Amino acid sequence: MNEFYQKDIISIKDYTKEQLEKIFTSTDKIMQLSSSQRQEICKGKTLGYLFYEPSTRTRLSFDSAIASIGGNSLGISNISSSSTQKGESLADTVKMMSIYSDILVLRHTLDGSSRFASEISDKPVINAGSGTEEHPTQAIQDLFTIKKEKKQIDGLKIGIVGDLKYGRTVYSLLHGLGNYDVDVRLISPESLRIRSDSTYEIKKNLDFTESTELEDHIDELDVLYVTRIQKERFPDEEEYLKVKGSYVVGLDMLKKMKDDSIILHPLPRIDEISTDVDKTKNAKYFQQAEYGKHTRAALLGLILNENGF
Ligand code: NCD
Repeated sequence: MNEFYQKDIISIKDYTKEQLEKIFTSTDKIMQLSSSQRQEICKGKTLGYLFYEPSTRTRLSFDSAIASIGGNSLGISNISSSSTQKGESLADTVKMMSIYSDILVLRHTLDGSSRFASEISDKPVINAGSGTEEHPTQAIQDLFTIKKEKKQIDGLKIGIVGDLKYGRTVYSLLHGLGNYDVDVRLISPESLRIRSDSTYEIKKNLDFTESTELEDHIDELDVLYVTRIQKERFPDEEEYLKVKGSYVVGLDMLKKMKDDSIILHPLPRIDEISTDVDKTKNAKYFQQAEYGKHTRAALLGLILNENGF
């Protein structure tokens, strides 16, 4: 039996390096199959999604991933049109969705929401973003992108810049990178440093430095992972305005980078990468979004087929 069969994806911390590498191998395989071969992988299977927070990429990438392997999707992407507005609990909504689907994808404002849903649902649950805590499939997509574009993850110098306090993709990525031998530089405004309650656990597996100056690191990096300032998570708009636009990666910054460095971003971008960077060979964030479809298709194929694909 394949080890991912019927398993939830709640946290990237639940995965070993070997398991991550197996997912990458399955993703490579899916990318090589013809579209008619791919269509057999999850024929007739239904993915149900519940999005309690806005999303474009993540939901559409799950939609297109399941469609690319022969399945279909249904769900609620706009909570204001659902029974939650009538007072239905998350537990009941999850129970309902697990009747209608073979696998559930949940995005919710609360930390711990996916773990809670997985305890209620008798179908596997995928965490598509739980509060500021984690976004494991984004980290799998990010690691896969680094591997594809730089050939290997070990040995790289990786800068992560932006909102390291509220950006959940950063936490999942750091835990994922803990499986590799990498040199990580965290760069953020003082008020948006990585949360101190997480550093202890991350430091067990990963060495990183913290600073406020992107310029101090820019010429050494192999990978620059840019994140947006998470406006909606600030308790106070004044605090947001103080850090808005702290870092902008433009062509001037790119000139200081190694020729073969890559720039990633989980998207959506606001103003932290200027659009004239998009056409350069270093800009890999749209490619990263495309890999996200394939990594998710591989995960769905593994979770929904006892013997893999
Ligand atoms: C991220 C998220 O929702 O955490 N988006 C995504 O899933 N690609 C990043 C963000 O919102 O900034």
